[in-house]
Amino acid sequence: MTAESYNIVCSDKNNNMKRSKRIETLDRRAVNMDGFIDEWPEMGFVAMHSPYDPKPSVKVENGVITELDGKSREKFDFIDQFIADYAIRIDRAEKSMAIPSLEIARKIVDIHVTRKEILEIVSGITPAKMAEVINYLNVVEMMMGMQKMRARKVPGNQAHITNLKDDPVQIAADAAEGALRGFSEEETTMGVARYAPFSSIALLIGSQAGRKGVLTQCSAEEATELELGIRGFTTYAETLSVYGTEKVFVDGDDTPYSKAFLNSAYASRGLKVRFTSGSGSEVLMGSSEKKSMLYLECRCLYCTKGAGSQGIQNGSVSCIGVTAGVPAGIREVIGENLVAALLGLECASSNDQSFSNSDMRRTARTMLQFMPGTDFIFSGYAAEPNYDNMFAGSNFDAEDFDDYNVMQRDMQVDGGLRPVTEEEVIRVRRYAAKAVQAVFKYLGLTEVTDEQVEAVVYAHGSKDTLNRDAAADIMSADDLMKRGITGVDVVKALSETGFEELAESILNMLKQRVIGDYMHTAAILDENFQVMSGVNTPNDYQGPGTGYRVDGKRWEEIKAIPHRINIDEF
Ligand code: 5AD
Ligand code: CA
Repeated sequence: MTAESYNIVCSDKNNNMKRSKRIETLDRRAVNMDGFIDEWPEMGFVAMHSPYDPKPSVKVENGVITELDGKSREKFDFIDQFIADYAIRIDRAEKSMAIPSLEIARKIVDIHVTRKEILEIVSGITPAKMAEVINYLNVVEMMMGMQKMRARKVPGNQAHITNLKDDPVQIAADAAEGALRGFSEEETTMGVARYAPFSSIALLIGSQAGRKGVLTQCSAEEATELELGIRGFTTYAETLSVYGTEKVFVDGDDTPYSKAFLNSAYASRGLKVRFTSGSGSEVLMGSSEKKSMLYLECRCLYCTKGAGSQGIQNGSVSCIGVTAGVPAGIREVIGENLVAALLGLECASSNDQSFSNSDMRRTARTMLQFMPGTDFIFSGYAAEPNYDNMFAGSNFDAEDFDDYNVMQRDMQVDGGLRPVTEEEVIRVRRYAAKAVQAVFKYLGLTEVTDEQVEAVVYAHGSKDTLNRDAAADIMSADDLMKRGITGVDVVKALSETGFEELAESILNMLKQRVIGDYMHTAAILDENFQVMSGVNTPNDYQGPGTGYRVDGKRWEEIKAIPHRINIDEF
């Protein structure tokens, strides 16, 4: 049979191809609802390497970088200039650039080469060189690199705490439960921006009610966010965005210099700060300059380092739909996380925004950070059901807690969470909700009724809670700001309404702002308010038998999932 006549057999007389039931079945699978696109460098749709990426080069004259990645100083844009002046160790540049990229890539994987030695070499290489190094690594090698290069010895995790109604009582209860489940940082944002003072106070109270020492953030418009921080309602800031091309920076009315300034503003008030970047943003904003996503993200990370930020939230973050659509996109994501670690930055490795309809694919993507461990495996695990996620849907949410706990147990991996009992969950949710009720009453804010508290304690999400008077809440929140209420007032309110222990915890969080140790790279606090960072508990992985191992008390905790045959009961 010729190809032509074979084709006639397959099609009916109108030339409609008769469908294969097998292919039709596959077509209906969740993964085929995802978006995919060919590599298209001219439009920026290229993950690892674009033919338009510059060749690595550096020239140093009289202590100044006069050429960077094939461009002479007169031709620098403001990103090049910022990187040349602040992000590369000029005394190391020529020496580091002389080491072949393949050799640096091999050192990253080699267990006999220490993290410190790698940091030293990398401190003198340019963004294009960094991209070249990363291109030599496959995903397993990148994971090996991350296992060694992550700043903090023990991995961590961060949660989103939001809801559709901006209900502060639910924020407090969800934050308490999230803290109980092990998150070291919790962030919130609002549907209605003016709720911000309530949201940040509720998050502060709720988090400490679940486990002492959890850091909190309220993502809002910059001036508001800074003000909430200065008042002591939050302990860190995260969404200081940087971009890989000048045009995109300018579109956001920013420059690397303005971001560095904002960074200092937060830091001067004792707030922990981390920047945000991620591949795909330049493509989405239509100014990729035909460069690869990896190369552009390297530029972002160098800006972050140059601005003096201790860390970054990266891994495409909110632009993951773009990166995941191109070949090797998910390889690029762990690649850019690794670049952050190589630059000595704390890495909160995204895994936040949902990008796939396929459960298999979303899980596979997360394994690249979960298995080696990063400073924060998720920089926004949704600790609420998807419909309550005001950051846009997350890759994992409250309904995935048990799956996640089982994965930790299956692989003996520390993903930063722990199994909990229903009794504990109900207890901390009530404690947090009651505390918010008491503080609101003491400070003369809108009423929180007993019925509201009870509904929130047992709720899965805001569909199960009572409605609040949003107009009254917003007026009350505005009033709170006008009255100059600060974190100290929250402490006082708690201590005078019978919540002394919680008052003490929040006072301790305020003290951190003065002590400042938690501004060190990759710092989190344990429940005794002791800092664990890349400085005092650095990652010392150097192959089998070294580094962080899941054992002892922590392994017992991970093993004890509620849905198991518990032999103690026999
Ligand atoms: N690049 C830069 N900033 C990002 N954000 C999220 N994804 C990126 C990215 N790829 C920041 C934005 C957003 C917040 C959630 O995080 O500021 O508003
Ligand atoms: Ca985050």
